[in-house]
Amino acid sequence: MTDLKRACLITFGCQMNEYDSGRLGRLLTDGGWILTDRREEADFIFFNTCSIRAKAAQRVINHLEQVRPLKKNNPQLLIGLGGCLAEQEGEALLAAAPWLDLVIGPQHLPALPGLLEKIQTDDRDDRRRSLTGAGANPAWSRENLAALGQGPSAPEARISSSVTIMQGCDNYCAYCVVPYLRGPELSRTAEDILDEVRHLVAAGVQDLTLLGQNVNSYGRGRAGGPTFPELLVQVAATGLRRLRFTTSHPKDLSPELVGLFRDLPPLCENLHLPIQSGSDQVLAAMGRGYTRDRYLQLVESLRAARPNLALTTDIIVGFPGETEADFLETMSLLETVTFDALFSFKYSNRPQTRASALAGQVPEEEKSRRLTYLQNRQKVITLAKNAAHLGQTLEVLVERPSGRYQGQLTGRARNFKLVHFDGPPELIGRLVPVSITEAWAASLRGRLIHA
Ligand code: SAH
Ligand code: SF4
Ligand code: F3S
Repeated sequence: MTDLKRACLITFGCQMNEYDSGRLGRLLTDGGWILTDRREEADFIFFNTCSIRAKAAQRVINHLEQVRPLKKNNPQLLIGLGGCLAEQEGEALLAAAPWLDLVIGPQHLPALPGLLEKIQTDDRDDRRRSLTGAGANPAWSRENLAALGQGPSAPEARISSSVTIMQGCDNYCAYCVVPYLRGPELSRTAEDILDEVRHLVAAGVQDLTLLGQNVNSYGRGRAGGPTFPELLVQVAATGLRRLRFTTSHPKDLSPELVGLFRDLPPLCENLHLPIQSGSDQVLAAMGRGYTRDRYLQLVESLRAARPNLALTTDIIVGFPGETEADFLETMSLLETVTFDALFSFKYSNRPQTRASALAGQVPEEEKSRRLTYLQNRQKVITLAKNAAHLGQTLEVLVERPSGRYQGQLTGRARNFKLVHFDGPPELIGRLVPVSITEAWAASLRGRLIHA
């Protein structure tokens, strides 16, 4: 090992990237690196990137430009790019940015410490390296998943944490780059997952989220293992207080899974169920595999199973061919379902996807207009949903001191809503009852009830 020591990991994109960065941090610290948040003092800066929309990709490129001057003060500094943008544009970025030292695709992350070692000991003029390919060698990928290690890395990960149960995606929704960048769907074995969960529970984790692009199809294509509902039952039996999962695809949400919202108490009352559009015509063009009515039926059965379920969703506005009438269908869906919150995006043309070749691309200004209109309406709905908690007592898992006010703590209710309240730091990691006194769009405020 040379004298390169401090690594700064910067993560963009989804929770699966967060998870990968956590594991990567462990691999690096096991190899003698010290993690730092300060890029100025780092000997290795690594961007774990996202490419889901053009804006996400541009953000990464801006960051890459910003760290370039740091090489002047520290000629030993290595700069690396991982994640989905690395998979997609890595070679081009390596050519365009001479200060970039390495590029590594998401499926190859466990090879990163070895690659760093090689660069450090290489005496060629150009020591830069790349390792990409979302290729489908399942054995290699399964090993990768196992090699990504176990155990929480950030302090608050000891209270809430996540576990990736599958990688990749086979759905090929018309707009989405993920299947091209993360490779085919591949489930981890239940034994691997349960091992990791037990490890986390022993370390004090009480609130756990199972992660995958389409967790409802967990285990598909592998004989003998549990289905997703069966896996949830096994994971809940490890003694976890709270269990969640994301992301669910409506087309694969089975009646067994809906039933668990009634029958499995640790399963929390929140579900993120992306619909993308309220128009059947747009849903069909997206290749989502369900209709508006089917989605509404699912919502009804979920609410029958767990009446206080907090429901969130994703919406894309301005998909190619989306008319004003289609958009109004989405607006009426928001009124019918009344989501607790939603994540909404302007459609973004992504390389390789079917939608990028479709006629009827919606002008940028029109997409912006639809997005603002939708977000303004949803803000009112979200506020009303949050206001419904006024006067209720919610069980809050205390996660950390609130960044804003001295003496204030922040935690999550079972429905995943953020709750702030005054209390002593000793409560961190505990489940406490909080009476809700104020409701905002992004959080609730309350008063600790002393038992
Ligand atoms: N696997 C998850 C979603 C992963 S991507 C699922 O199927 O639900 C997260 C969200 O990004 C998607 O739900 C979608 O709303 C949005 N998204 C994906 N590709 C997009 C694109 N090309 N333009 C705009 N939004 C996009
Ligand atoms: Fe993308 Fe669709 Fe797969 Fe989600 S299910 S990751 S939106 S292709
Ligand atoms: Fe982004 Fe890749 Fe996740 S494109 S959303 S980091 S799977």
